[in-house]
Amino acid sequence: MSGVSVQFPVTHNTKSNLANVDWDNLPFGKIFADHMFVMEYANGAWKQGEILPFGPIAMHPAMSAIHYGQSIFEGMKAYRNQSDEVVLFRPELNARRFTESAARMCMPELPEEIFLEAVKQLVALDAAWVTNKPGYALYIRPFMFATDEFVGIKPSDTYKFVIISSPVGAYYAEPVRVKIEEHYTRAAVGGVGRAKAAGNYGASLFPAKQAQQQGFHQLVWTDAKTHTFIEESGTMNIMFVINNTLITPSEDSDTILRGTTKRTVLELAASWGIPIEERPVTVEEIITAAKNGTLQEAFGAGTAATIAPIAIIGYRDEKIELPALETREMSLKIKTFLHEVKSGAIEDTHHWVQKVC
Ligand code: COI
Repeated sequence: MSGVSVQFPVTHNTKSNLANVDWDNLPFGKIFADHMFVMEYANGAWKQGEILPFGPIAMHPAMSAIHYGQSIFEGMKAYRNQSDEVVLFRPELNARRFTESAARMCMPELPEEIFLEAVKQLVALDAAWVTNKPGYALYIRPFMFATDEFVGIKPSDTYKFVIISSPVGAYYAEPVRVKIEEHYTRAAVGGVGRAKAAGNYGASLFPAKQAQQQGFHQLVWTDAKTHTFIEESGTMNIMFVINNTLITPSEDSDTILRGTTKRTVLELAASWGIPIEERPVTVEEIITAAKNGTLQEAFGAGTAATIAPIAIIGYRDEKIELPALETREMSLKIKTFLHEVKSGAIEDTHHWVQKVC
């Protein structure tokens, strides 16, 4: 890492797009802030990173990431709090997961302090893009991809680490309808399910599209071998409340993404004395609980979606309606707490929030 300075050089964007943003009609992930961070890896070392005007990246047609999928990413958010400060939420967890994803995909380790500094300096520069509009944030997308110009198959020798950002509102406009998937799989034991690898998302599109054609927003992924254990939902971790106990699939196998929001929910619930079970969760027990009325809540937890209540679970030919949203005490309390801690309305006793500027 020698030669990487802490203050990254900046080439300013002289044609800001900020004034053109329609904050009342903001599609998720289509509008981008004025700058991006770019850093290259070659000859076994990361080079000097820099902040540039947001724009296209030149690409060789043989660039190995587009042929063989050595590509990973992260999702994080910056918020503007009540004191007009821009803050990040537990960014160190994203930095750590990024290094874990890189290791699994045979990509170079990016030191976590470089990841964090790059995110902070980019967000500080584009701070005007972080609105205080309730429910809105600046979605930050760090990613790394292989750049060797070579169609032979081997780990690339060169990489690019880039960070872009995009102002966003709610990811789901309504409570989600999910379908339990019993044929297609997101991840198998020994695969790359734990990594935030681009290919995991590409592979999910076909089964997800089929579910969408049947009126669902997303799938509930089950284990690849027996399809009897619940793993994740769409791009989110999944959590249930049965008999006032918070239940979520354990991450013992390498098939489940280690979500920052899910970890936060579990830590929060533990601090409130809520009983927690992090263990294998069967499809059967969830369907039984949904039918006999003991399933009080089900929700997805993710950076983009935050806490996304599940309204309907599709299972085989059935569509099982879950309890009304007004009755969902636990997820509502968690969602409110997270919002208040990010907005500075309550004290950050867990030390989760980091000030950017
Ligand atoms: C995130 O929550 O950051 C995600 O990874 C979802 C993304 C695919 C939109």
